Amino acid sequence: MRARAVVIMAAGMGTRMKSEKVKVLHKVAGFPLIGWCVRTALSLSAERVVLVLGHQHEKVEEFLDQTFQNAPLVYAFQAEQLGTAHAVSCAEEALHDFEGDVFILSGDVPGLTAETLEAFDAACGDADLGVMGMRLSSGGAYGRLVCDADELQKIVEARDCTSEELKICDVNSGIYRVNARFLFAALKRFSRNNAQGEYYLTDLVAAARAEHRKVCAHLLEGEAAEELEGINDRIDLAKAEKRMQQRLKKALMRQGVTMIDPDRLYVEAQVTAGSDCLLEPDVSLRGQTHLGRGCVIGQGAIIIDSSLDEGTYIKPYSHIEGAQIGPECQVGPFARLRPGTVFERDVRVGNFVETKKSHLFEGVKAGHLSYLGDAEVGPRCNIGAGTITCNYDGHNKHPTRIGADVFIGSDSQLVAPVCVEEGAYVGAGTTVTGLVPAGALAISRTPQKNLEGWVARHKK
Ligand code: UD1
Ligand code: MG
Repeated sequence: MRARAVVIMAAGMGTRMKSEKVKVLHKVAGFPLIGWCVRTALSLSAERVVLVLGHQHEKVEEFLDQTFQNAPLVYAFQAEQLGTAHAVSCAEEALHDFEGDVFILSGDVPGLTAETLEAFDAACGDADLGVMGMRLSSGGAYGRLVCDADELQKIVEARDCTSEELKICDVNSGIYRVNARFLFAALKRFSRNNAQGEYYLTDLVAAARAEHRKVCAHLLEGEAAEELEGINDRIDLAKAEKRMQQRLKKALMRQGVTMIDPDRLYVEAQVTAGSDCLLEPDVSLRGQTHLGRGCVIGQGAIIIDSSLDEGTYIKPYSHIEGAQIGPECQVGPFARLRPGTVFERDVRVGNFVETKKSHLFEGVKAGHLSYLGDAEVGPRCNIGAGTITCNYDGHNKHPTRIGADVFIGSDSQLVAPVCVEEGAYVGAGTTVTGLVPAGALAISRTPQKNLEGWVARHKK
């Protein structure tokens, strides 16, 4: 295989998005456009992936550095956007010692897959220039592939087309494979004598023809061509989202996940799920979420950046974020697990229970209406309905420690920092403000007294 490098053009602002945010940071399936593109580029096992950045380049770099650590990414800067040819020439320095094929991609084409690029590469054979095209029902604003005797002769931008050329339905996707030496030598000769006054990368075709180099146009049609559609505005973004959703869900179904109604699910790019998971309607799986085998996610549950182990059941309408949930747990309905929640095996948490930064060990049960924040709850504890950890004094957060086999009666408050030792009991309605020693019963409520006949007297 010849050496490969990739150049991704991503310097433009994307004014048609009407946004404060640069286009390539807008998201499809929760993952920025540029991220999709870099993922595909990396799958080519390229030696180097050069990103040509301009608008908001610091923000784009920050995202890429965090997401693709140790990847061979190189940043090139294009201060002024003078056209696609100018963008690629900004990558020359980063590739000065590179010999081989340069794949040129646009940062705003999230649907492009590695398989499509490999097929394109194979079709290009030993050509010096390959252009990936799309056969559409009408050419729209795309550059037209102008052929003569089935050979691509030049690409003409829609705005520079004659009325005859505008009728052409074979158009340029903006994805190319070019011999590095030819590319950078040719770019030096380009002019900006056209309707937009820009340096057009599409002029490569005419340049290759002038040097009698081999040019290959590889056309995709129908659904396959949709993959190459770029994003220019929010309508394109919504279309791309729809297609990406279908792709992600199909991939999960192929891995053995059941979706009762795939059209009523939202799944993001980095979600994984083991076989025999069942997703009910209106489930939303976001961020870095991982489901182990055989998990059931009930209707309307939202799970963000969380991992669930085998056989865990999330009942409907629970909201889970930044949690690590062990195997065979049951959560909800209507539970809220916040960041830092860790559950060991077989933890059961019911309706209107909220946890935050809390570690619940094996077999803990908190069935109803509780808040457990900054708490450690030992194995097999029973947390009664309405138990609240009072973890905040207005300035600082304090921990609550509960040993193994503790029983906390309903409607108790644990005023942190506080510790209830192993095997202790806390009577219902108790406000715990100090240590409860192992095996003790803590009870703080006033004893009950009954006033006989009080009701009748009161009614008189
Ligand atoms: C380009 C092609 C057109 C093709 C279409 C496919 C040219 C001249 N035209 O047109 O034939 O049909 O893509 O979508 O190449 N960019 C830079 N720096 C620049 C200019 C652009 O980085 O100076 C980046 C943009 O951010 C974008 C990509 O290059 O990611 C494409 O640029 P864009 O202006 O969208 O080109 P089109 O007009 O769509
Ligand atoms: Mg475009």
